[in-house]
Amino acid sequence: MSISKDLQAMREHYDQEPLRRSDLSACPYEQFSTWLSDAVEKKIYDPNACSLATVDKEGHPSARAVLLKGMEEGGFSFYTNYNSRKASHLENNPNASIHFPWFALQRQVVVIGVVSKLGEQVADDYFQSRPSLSKLGAWASQQSEEVDSRESLEKAFLEAKEKWGDDPPKPPHWGGFSLSPVSIEFWQGGPNRLHDRFIYSRHQGGEKWNIQRLNP
Ligand SMILES: Cc1cc2nc3c(=O)[nH]c(=O)nc-3n(C[C@H](O)[C@H](O)[C@H](O)COP(=O)(O)O)c2cc1C
Repeated sequence: MSISKDLQAMREHYDQEPLRRSDLSACPYEQFSTWLSDAVEKKIYDPNACSLATVDKEGHPSARAVLLKGMEEGGFSFYTNYNSRKASHLENNPNASIHFPWFALQRQVVVIGVVSKLGEQVADDYFQSRPSLSKLGAWASQQSEEVDSRESLEKAFLEAKEKWGDDPPKPPHWGGFSLSPVSIEFWQGGPNRLHDRFIYSRHQGGEKWNIQRLNP
């Protein structure tokens, strides 16, 4: 049987207890922290991995995984190469979305907002906490540029190791972004495809969050 035939037969049953408005925290960050803690406790693989969607100058969207590395002052932060494709999209258009795919829990969270760069000191502090070999990887990779072979990449890594030893500084082109949300949607799967969806939204920079239930 071809895999495309199999696709039509692939069907999961969602069976979580109904999620009620009274179950939710008034603060979306608290609600997010509760669900993230659940994902950690249930040992979801890479619980802080999310998909980051950006758009290019022509309005073409693209998505890729990043790791959530902080939730400072209400922003969702991640780190990357400022010369990468995603960073050039964000420089041009700071509107972005991140999606947490906690499918094993029959849950997803979709965050939409506007990104800004994290300060150098914050990025430096986080960079210093990374394992030495990851730090060297950040020097070796011209992220999103074409590379002619695996060997070239490994050579660049060895050159970085030779130059910086075991304690490389943060490369100038490496840093973080923080996404300040205008909406955060929580989705939980329920029986008969009657899933629960709640969206918290606010005006950019506003304090007050409005909560609405959405049709599945
Ligand atoms: C689970 C996972 C986590 C990742 N985390 C990051 C990350 O935190 N930062 C990053 O720059 N790339 C990360 N990547 C690689 C990106 O998905 C992507 O390939 C890379 O950033 C280049 O994207 P771009 O060319 O669209 O800029 C991760 C990939 C996976 C699969």
